[in-house]
Amino acid sequence: MTERPRGTRDFLPDEMEEHRDIEEAMRSTALGFGYGEVRTPTFEHTDLFVAKSGPAIVDEMYVFEDKGGRSMSLRPELTAAVMRLYADRLTHSPKPIRVFYQGPCFRYERPQKGRYREFFQFGAELIGCPHPEGDAEIIALAVRAIQAAGVQDPVVRVGHVGALHALMEAIGVEATVASQAYPMIDKGDMTSLRTLFDEREVGYSNFETVEDYVNVTGDRSVVDHVMASYGHFDGLADALSRLGQALEHLDGYQGLEYTVDLGIARGLDYYTGVVFEVDWDGLGAEKQICGGGAYELGQIFGLDNVPATGFAIGLDRVYLAVEMVAGEEEATRSGALVVPMDRGGDVMSLAIRAAEALRGAGVRTELEVMRRGTGKALKGADQKGMRWAVIVGSDEAAQGKVALKDLVSGEQRLVTLDELSKV
Ligand code: HAM
Repeated sequence: MTERPRGTRDFLPDEMEEHRDIEEAMRSTALGFGYGEVRTPTFEHTDLFVAKSGPAIVDEMYVFEDKGGRSMSLRPELTAAVMRLYADRLTHSPKPIRVFYQGPCFRYERPQKGRYREFFQFGAELIGCPHPEGDAEIIALAVRAIQAAGVQDPVVRVGHVGALHALMEAIGVEATVASQAYPMIDKGDMTSLRTLFDEREVGYSNFETVEDYVNVTGDRSVVDHVMASYGHFDGLADALSRLGQALEHLDGYQGLEYTVDLGIARGLDYYTGVVFEVDWDGLGAEKQICGGGAYELGQIFGLDNVPATGFAIGLDRVYLAVEMVAGEEEATRSGALVVPMDRGGDVMSLAIRAAEALRGAGVRTELEVMRRGTGKALKGADQKGMRWAVIVGSDEAAQGKVALKDLVSGEQRLVTLDELSKV
């Protein structure tokens, strides 16, 4: 028998329903911020991803040759494709461009809980806004979408990769060494960083400077402190002041809490400015549910620099987080089962009308079509977590009434279809 490919999953109806609820909550948050949905292909020319995210991404990609001999890749993320779409179709649209998307992404990674080869992202890009208000808006949209999906207490960390790049350059770390250093910094792995700096003769005092800098965390005020001690390095003052301004705007979003974390380096090569990550601690090792930040990618499409910022939320991790929270709460009962007690025309037609009345009132309603007896049918409804059962017998049908049973309290009463549509 053919097995499901490693790192992929099938989803059953109850899981799909939870996923759709989460996606819908995120969609309406994005629509509320004035973003419009776009959809791009699941595969693109390999060059698009290599040009944008750096050659390292190829190791993680599903790359194949099509029948015309062209190198194609399943998308590992959507930002590159959205920028291609912008370059193809949206350069003449009024700025800023606000778009969001959701869909499957593919990365050839070692699967584990929360890390898959096919996974789903929900993301947004704000294109053409050069100002810190845009940085703040994108962070706020990400956090509001995560909260709307039902993940409470997300941990938001905000930093600036441009400042980190400037520091590395100012202390004389070569670009090749710096690009090896960023993943170590991202993981907080100072032992490997020290070994790398030793091997490449970067010098212990430079290691200490970088170590102290990337360990800076705290509230908005730490940006001023860092400015006082690091502002003299070329390029750092501008970057830090941009971060400070973005945070000032972010403070305008009520109740949105964050920590400054200057050690965020982000995995993909294209970030240039304010960056952020959102974790949900309950998830353990794969706790990062969102990542994003400012980047400039117009040049790969031959466009003048187009400032852009965006994020992507890992939906699979959000599904897991929401399930964990829901598991702790008592499941709420919903829906109804309509049980005709015999197949006679009057009973059946009243049962169908009862089901339609409930559906019309927005109650998710199943009609018993397996000809089960009332006892068995009610047991099934209870096991499925339904809230109501409607029993339709010939005596009741003669009066145009049905028996409505509350599956929580066990109470039962005779009601008309009109009353039924008001449950
Ligand atoms: P990323 O950090 O590579 O950023 O991915 C975003 C999120 O996708 C991660 O935080 C994680 O939740 C989820 N994710 C990544 N890989 C996997 C996987 N193998 N299995 C499950 N979930 C995963 C980006 O993709 C950028 N395009 C974000 C962005 C948009 N930056 C600017 N605009």
